[in-house]
Amino acid sequence: MNPKIRTNKFYIVVFLVFVIFLFFIQIRRKPTVEPLILTELKKNVQQCVSRIENMTFLITEDAEITETDKKYSKTVQLHLGGFRDGGLGNKMFELMTLIGIGDTLQRRVLVNATDLNNIRILADEIYPIFPKIIDEFEFKFVPTAAATRQDLSVGKCCTFDDPKQFISRPEKHLIFDGRYFQSFKYFNHIRLKIRDSLKPKIQIFQKAECLLPERHRNDFIICPHIRRGDFQTDDFHQPTDPKFTRAATNFLVDYCRAGYRNRKSHPRVTVAVFGNDVKFVYEVFKDLVDTIELPKKYSVVLTPTLAPEIDLAFTRKYCDVTLITAPSSTFGWWLSYLSKEGSVTYYRNIQETQDKVANEMKEEDFYPPEWIKLRYDNVTGRIDKF
Ligand SMILES: *[C@@H]1O[C@H](CO)[C@@H](O)[C@H](O)[C@H]1NC(C)=O
Ligand SMILES: *[C@@H]1O[C@H](CO)[C@@H](O)[C@H](O)[C@H]1NC(C)=O
Ligand SMILES: *[C@@H]1O[C@H](CO)[C@@H](O)[C@H](O)[C@H]1NC(C)=O
Repeated sequence: MNPKIRTNKFYIVVFLVFVIFLFFIQIRRKPTVEPLILTELKKNVQQCVSRIENMTFLITEDAEITETDKKYSKTVQLHLGGFRDGGLGNKMFELMTLIGIGDTLQRRVLVNATDLNNIRILADEIYPIFPKIIDEFEFKFVPTAAATRQDLSVGKCCTFDDPKQFISRPEKHLIFDGRYFQSFKYFNHIRLKIRDSLKPKIQIFQKAECLLPERHRNDFIICPHIRRGDFQTDDFHQPTDPKFTRAATNFLVDYCRAGYRNRKSHPRVTVAVFGNDVKFVYEVFKDLVDTIELPKKYSVVLTPTLAPEIDLAFTRKYCDVTLITAPSSTFGWWLSYLSKEGSVTYYRNIQETQDKVANEMKEEDFYPPEWIKLRYDNVTGRIDKF
């Protein structure tokens, strides 16, 4: 056979295979449930993040300050129950509460170093995200007999049980038996120190930039946080409600554009949504998803779920307003507590939801007084501030 013909045949076969391949891709694309825009978004952001990871020469971390204050001779520990079964938000509450109680009672804060679970969680989950907080703790072995156990915050997740009542306790080593400690009142008096020890690394801030297209970087940014996933099925927490989320976001956009609290108005408002279910967010804001075409009422930037520290870095760098839509989400709480200096937080009224945490929560212990509660009329769809 003429070799030239064979080559032509070869090309034809390759061409046909290619066409069939394209055909299959077309077919396969239809039944996939994920909209193409989400697939592309995830791919682009992932590429951007991985580029930054590779640019190790860019990393110039803050000079380490490891001078810890060791002037107190007495110590305090917490039981750290959230280290067994809690999410990141719960763990952060226990750790920050421990630091806050140490400050209040003028005791050094210890972590029981013989409990391998404590060490594992701190080393694998906490330290890679918040390298600075390790300096706050001492890892020690205190014999069980040498420590005094005391009840504090037993039973209710989000109610403040004032540790000051134990300020004159003479025992050298105190361990508070209790759980959750989900109240800002344990540590709000050292808020700046808390913010500082929970500051993500510079590289994480660079990754967070991947989430926000350049054209929005100077806008006024409103950041709703949504929580679905486990909250939908645990029959305890109230997951984010789509109607509330859309109504509250519309409300905040109008409110910020018009100017509020005697502040100036913000004509360029952009919404960046965080949480653990980007597909849900897409369904809620489909008509507003950020594209360069078509002027819209406002633009919504979707963020794929990457890593909690990237979300924390984003809110800290960009969010002028945060919105908590799942009222008992502790991670949503932390995103707001650590968001940009001067930012304003709004949250859904837990009493008008089915959230069972409401039974344990003292609202004034859980939500800082400067945060603003939103009321939702589920008949008219109207949002109001309290
Ligand atoms: C980052 O580096 C890894 C291997 O070192 C490489 O596989 C990957 O393609 C790089 N990513 C980018 C976006 O350059
Ligand atoms: C520290 O942890 C170990 C292992 O879990 C435990 O046996 C011990 O009682 C703890 N020490 C104190 C003082 O609680
Ligand atoms: C609407 O809100 C009321 C009062 O908060 C509540 O009792 C009712 O169950 C809600 N209805 C729906 C459909 O969510």
